[in-house]
Order: sequence, then C-alpha cells, then structure tokens
Amino acid sequence: MIMAVTEICLGTKEESSKVENDAIRKKCSRVFHAGGARLVLCGRTWEKLEALYDALISVTDPSVVDISCIRDVAKEILNCYGCVDILINNASMKVKGAVQSISLELDKKIMDANYFGPITLTKAILPNMISRRTGQIVLINSIQGKIGIPFRAAYAASKHAAVGFFDCLRAEMEEFDISVSTVSPTFICSYHRPPAPGNWEASIWKFFFRKVSYGVHPVEVAEEVLATVSRKKQEVLMANPIPRAAVYIRTFFPELFFAIVASGIRERLKTEEES
Ligand SMILES: NC(=O)c1ccc[n+]([C@@H]2O[C@H](COP(=O)([O-])OP(=O)(O)OC[C@H]3O[C@@H](n4cnc5c(N)ncnc54)[C@H](OP(=O)(O)O)[C@@H]3O)[C@@H](O)[C@H]2O)c1
Repeated sequence: MIMAVTEICLGTKEESSKVENDAIRKKCSRVFHAGGARLVLCGRTWEKLEALYDALISVTDPSVVDISCIRDVAKEILNCYGCVDILINNASMKVKGAVQSISLELDKKIMDANYFGPITLTKAILPNMISRRTGQIVLINSIQGKIGIPFRAAYAASKHAAVGFFDCLRAEMEEFDISVSTVSPTFICSYHRPPAPGNWEASIWKFFFRKVSYGVHPVEVAEEVLATVSRKKQEVLMANPIPRAAVYIRTFFPELFFAIVASGIRERLKTEEES
C-alpha cells in the first residue's frame, strides 16, 4: 500500500502560530507505518522529514514539496510507485488575529496552504486513482471548517473552503469507488493542561471553547485517521460534547450561536479594559 502524508510549502513558519508541532504527521506516519503502509513523506523541511524517516526506519522516500512543483512531485511519486492508495492532506498554516490586523497577502498564503495545497495535490493524484477505480483521500481539517471562531477568520475561511471542495469531490468520486474522508478535530494537545486563570475564565465563550474541551491527543487523531481509512468513513468530527453542540447550534440556531460568540468577545474586551 502506497500512502502519501503531505505538507505543502508556503509562507514562513513565523507567520503561523503552532499549537502542537507537526504532531499529526508524526503520529499518522507511525500508525500507518506500523500497519504496513509504504509511506511517501512530503514537507518543506528536509531535516524534519529525515528525522521522521530515521524514526520510522523504513523504505520511506521523503520529498520536499513546493506548491509550484506539486504536479511534478505527484508525477515523480506515481512514476516511482505506480500509484497512491491513500492520500492524507494534513499540512496547514495557522494564523490568529483580528481581521483588520492580518494583511491580504497573509490571507492568501493561508488560503494557498490550507485550500489550494490539498486540492492541487489531490487533483494531481486523482487521474491515477480514477483510472484504477480505487483510492482513498483524507483531509485533516478542523472544527473551524464548520464554525467560525473570532480572530481566526483566514484559517476558518480556508477550512470551510476545503470542506466544501472535498464534500463535492466525495459525491463525484462515488462512481469510481474512491472514498473521500474529512477528519475534523477541535484542539490537539499532547497533554491536558488547565486553562490559565483570568477574569473572563467564566465566560460562556471560554466555557465553550477552552474549559470543557482540553483537546485530543495527537495519537487519538492518528488512530481516528486509521479507523477512518479502514472503515471508509466519510466525515469524522472529533469533538467533545460542547464543541459538538456548538456545531449543531450553528446549524439549527445560528442567531443563538452568533450571540454566544459575540458575548465572548464583549467579555474579553471588558477583561482587557479592566486589566
Ligand atoms: N493543532 C491543532 O490544535 C489542530 C486542531 C484542529 C485541526 N488541526 C488540523 O490538523 C492538521 C495538522 O495539525 P498540526 O497542528 O499537527 O499542524 P502543524 O504542526 O501546525 O503543521 C503541520 C505541517 O504543516 C506544515 N506547515 C506549517 N506551516 C506551514 C506553512 N506556512 N506553509 C506550508 N506548510 C506549513 C508543516 O510542515 P513542515 O514541517 O514540513 O514545514 C507542518 O509539519 C492541520 O490540517 C490542522 O488544521 C489541528
């Protein structure tokens, strides 16, 4: 089985705020490697890929990928291995800030990394999968592809766009027996840490997005990706009950959702003024 775990090279690392460094790629690679897959690791930092390669101790072929040469890389992978059975789109760039404080250029970079990256690679691999009438495409996305959280506009927009694309693709690929899956975690963290003390700790906003959801461990995400692939699940939302409820509230009671989110912002501004 040939599997590609992808990272698309765009922008600078300084522009992204990282929560859990490279965690999912490492864990996914380990889980799939342990399951017997032959991995093609793609990313922009050769040293990291080599380190992961060494850790995996396998016949892995690390490739550094830039979005401008992505078709060539896909071609090289197909020439080398003949096919890709499972494509996992994991790379992402995060940014946090008020809409007016983020430049349009950075907005575009986020969109390139989180939307155009996965779709470029998917489109490059797809003809081969279609001709073989088999294959699995997984998008590691985020709950922010379903709900918009303040100060994450560019990230949320890119994740919404990616979900829209892969939802359409799923329907189109059914006749070719190619499965398309999205796995959307909330927060990923390697340990459970209590939230920092603060005045607006008690706000509903914090309650919704921090206090109750300390996040899932990267290993849990990797195992869920493995389960998604083996059971050909279409959509997985990895969320604790409260963020999960937020998704339903956003869908069925949007005005309530918007009011809760806005109250969180007001609470935050009040706290900042007080301190
Ligand atoms: N972390 C979370 O709390 C969380 C929550 C929900 C969903 N997710 C999703 O899960 C996936 C993996 O998350 P993660 O936290 O493990 O990711 P991450 O460590 O922030 O980044 C994953 C990979 O993306 C590549 N990358 C980072 N910045 C980049 C940039 N500016 N341009 C191009 N590539 C870049 C890096 O590859 P190189 O090392 O090769 O540079 C990195 O290995 C993402 O799709 C993310 O949206 C994460």
